[in-house]
Order: sequence, then C-alpha cells, then structure tokens
Amino acid sequence: MTNKYIYFIANWKMFGGLNSLNSLHKVAKFFKNFEKNKYIKIIYCPPSTLIRPMSKKLKNTRIEVGAQNCHENQTSGAFTGSINAKMLKNVGAKYVIIGHSENREAGENNKLINLKIRSALKSGLKVIFCVGETLKEKRKKITKQVLNKQIKSGLDKIKNKNNILIAYEPVWSIGSGLIPKSNELFNIINFIKKKFKNYNVLYGGSVNSKNINELKFIDNIDGFLIGGSSQDPKKFIDIIKKTYN
Ligand code: 13P
Repeated sequence: MTNKYIYFIANWKMFGGLNSLNSLHKVAKFFKNFEKNKYIKIIYCPPSTLIRPMSKKLKNTRIEVGAQNCHENQTSGAFTGSINAKMLKNVGAKYVIIGHSENREAGENNKLINLKIRSALKSGLKVIFCVGETLKEKRKKITKQVLNKQIKSGLDKIKNKNNILIAYEPVWSIGSGLIPKSNELFNIINFIKKKFKNYNVLYGGSVNSKNINELKFIDNIDGFLIGGSSQDPKKFIDIIKKTYN
C-alpha cells in the first residue's frame, strides 16, 4: 500500500463536543509533514453540531469534513430534528456517510438509503456508502448476496459514480475488535469491485493501530473507515503511519 491513494475516514459517531477540536491541530501538523501526504485523503465525520467549527479549524489544511447521515429530502420542510444534505454542505461538509449499519438497524432500508444518496449527490456532497452483512448472514454464507442487494438498491438510478466511495463494514466487526480474515476480506473487496466497477472500496470495522499491520497488506482496499480509534489523534495518526511503514 505504498504508492496508491488511500482514504482515512474518521467516523466519530455520537461522540465529541467543542473541546474535542482542541487536539485536531496535531493531526493537521502530522499530515502536513508526512512525506506520503499526497497519496492520502483524511476526512473527519463528526456529529453535525461540530461540522461548522471543525471546518473552520481545518480551513487551511487538506483535511476535509463530512457528516454522518442526512435526510432524503433535498428541499427544506417540516421534518423536526432532521438535517438535509444542502444544509450540511452549507456548514462546510464535503462528504456524508449514508447507510451505516447503526442507522440500518434503526430502520433505514435500501430504498431510503438510495433516496438519501441521490439527494446528497444532487446537493453536491460526496457519499461514503456503507454496506455489510450481519453475523447471522455471514453464518448462513449469504454475505455476497446481501452485499449485492444492498449495493444494487443503494445505487439504483445513479449514473455518476465519481462521487461515491463504497465502505464495506461487516456488522459483526463494528466495535467488536474482530476483523475478517485477510483472504476473506480480499475476496469480498474483489467481489464488490468486479461487480460494481470503478468504485473505490474501503474497509471499516474495528480498525486499530495493531490490526492495521495486517490490513495494510490487503492491496485492493482503498482506505479505511475508522470509528473508535479515530477519536484519539494519537491512535489515528498511528494507523496512518503504520499503513506506510
Ligand atoms: P469501529 O472502528 O469503532 O469498529 O467502528 C467502525 C465504524 O462503524 C465506522 O463507520
């Protein structure tokens, strides 16, 4: 993984307040001085409350900011508690995560996810589109069918592939400390890339500064979507450094 473009995307989930922005300069400084930085894209997806202040803080850096979800309506309306893609763009987001399993578990289905993706793209955001099988589906050996359905439905009626990153996040791996076996992961990423050509495919699920030493050798992966380990700048920097060691 030395000379190819790699994404490191931080998903902060529902963590962080204004004081969590204080240590961001460490990541910005590291990135600026890191010899491989032209091959790297760093994107922070904090809670929506932090998008504006974080964008301001990272203004003169190449680190970009994204959101974690959006409403499917492109226009404003009476949807209490919701935020649409245009509003996210307006406060500085360049990306939005859509289809995360934590939101699928809360009731988002493939059709809704497709509407959200289309709305985000129309609003000018890039999409980090999450897919992944549950443990039950893995045990039933239907991972590929599940992924095929999720991706096909999610990308329905979408022609422009340029602004979508697919993130493969096995549900059983998120927050569990478990990651797929290297050969299995290679095969799944390969399956996605063959079936859905020209997409960058990332891996997410318990990525940390230890298992990155194994993950970095899976050379069809285009980057990582990182939850827990992205909240601590030291751990996040460590993951990036080790990817290139
Ligand atoms: P963890 O890295 O905490 O397992 O979370 C992964 C994830 O859900 C990123 O979107």
